[in-house]
Amino acid sequence: MPGRLEGKTAIVTGGGSGFGAGIAKKFRQEGANVLICDLSTENGTKVASSLGAEFITANVTKRSDWEAALKKCIDTWGGLDIVINNAGACYPNKPTEQVTDDEFDLCYNVNVKSVYLSSSVLLPYFLENNRPGCFVQIASTAGIRPRPGLTWYNSSKAACSNATKTMAVEYAPKKIRFNAVCPVVGSTGMTHLFLGKPNTEENMKAFTAVVPMGRGTTPADVANACCYLASDEAEFITGVNLEVDGGRCV
Ligand SMILES: NC(=O)c1ccc[n+]([C@@H]2O[C@H](COP(=O)([O-])OP(=O)(O)OC[C@H]3O[C@@H](n4cnc5c(N)ncnc54)[C@H](O)[C@@H]3O)[C@@H](O)[C@H]2O)c1
Ligand SMILES: *[C@@H]1O[C@H](CO)[C@@H](O)[C@H](O)[C@H]1NC(C)=O
Ligand SMILES: *[C@@H]1O[C@H](CO)[C@@H](O)[C@H](O)[C@H]1NC(C)=O
Ligand SMILES: *[C@@H]1O[C@H](CO)[C@@H](O)[C@H](O)[C@H]1NC(C)=O
Ligand SMILES: *[C@@H]1O[C@H](CO)[C@@H](O)[C@H](O)[C@H]1NC(C)=O
Repeated sequence: MPGRLEGKTAIVTGGGSGFGAGIAKKFRQEGANVLICDLSTENGTKVASSLGAEFITANVTKRSDWEAALKKCIDTWGGLDIVINNAGACYPNKPTEQVTDDEFDLCYNVNVKSVYLSSSVLLPYFLENNRPGCFVQIASTAGIRPRPGLTWYNSSKAACSNATKTMAVEYAPKKIRFNAVCPVVGSTGMTHLFLGKPNTEENMKAFTAVVPMGRGTTPADVANACCYLASDEAEFITGVNLEVDGGRCV
């Protein structure tokens, strides 16, 4: 049986760890060509070689790195179909008046400017080639259900979700789709920042206790949602903010 993403080519940012590594794995299993883009050369190379994916060291806040990613996809596979904006950054959970300029900039650069750059560099490619592109942003329940703490991380994710909806409407006539996936807390390289303390089972409990299904989001949960949204099964789905959160946002 052909995979659900057979013959498609995808960029997965932040694919060297956590949710991104899970997305890259699922996409390879479903037949997609995958280019992992990550700041960490060590992690990215390791994940890519274990999956038969390609890798480039890239900083998603740099236009030239997005241009390099597009060129790599065209040179290697002859084109690009799917963009998963998964790379994200956060500062340690703390009172909002203590956040520094650098921490604010980090959130908005990695979580918002990256999405801007991906659209700025890749939309002309999809439009000029009359290709039905597909963008999936990994936003967060943090952008939907405000509670105290992490103000600028959460607002950056709300901006990401909102930009996704805007672009969905704007590019719908061109059949370029934009959707977002919103996980609740999961155990990854970033978890200790959300918790504001080490990622131990005990510390996670306070966060997962408020999830109706009683656990955090796994890389497989995120990957399965991304696979559906990126596949042709979702050809009429655009502008959706899909919560993958065990009922947290209800
Ligand atoms: N873990 C959670 O609880 C949780 C919950 C909701 C949303 N998210 C979102 O999920 C996404 C994936 O994060 P994760 O939890 O898997 O964390 P992670 O730290 O395990 O993975 C993030 C990856 O992004 C890469 N990265 C960071 N900045 C980058 C940059 N400027 N350019 C390129 N790559 C960069 C890192 O090197 C890392 O490999 C993020 O957008 C995060 O905000 C995470
Ligand atoms: C590599 O990935 C691991 C596992 O997710 C993470 O803990 C580590 O911080 C990552 N290293 C770098 C340099 O990003
Ligand atoms: C990523 O690029 C931005 C913008 O050029 C830069 O400020 C930042 O330091 C870079 N991050 C890393 C880890 O190199
Ligand atoms: C921000 O998100 C974090 C992590 O998901 C959550 O714990 C916090 O309550 C949220 N805060 C706001 C103001 O949205
Ligand atoms: C984006 O902003 C508009 C205008 O304020 C609002 O109607 C919409 O609900 C927002 N969308 C998201 C996903 O926050």
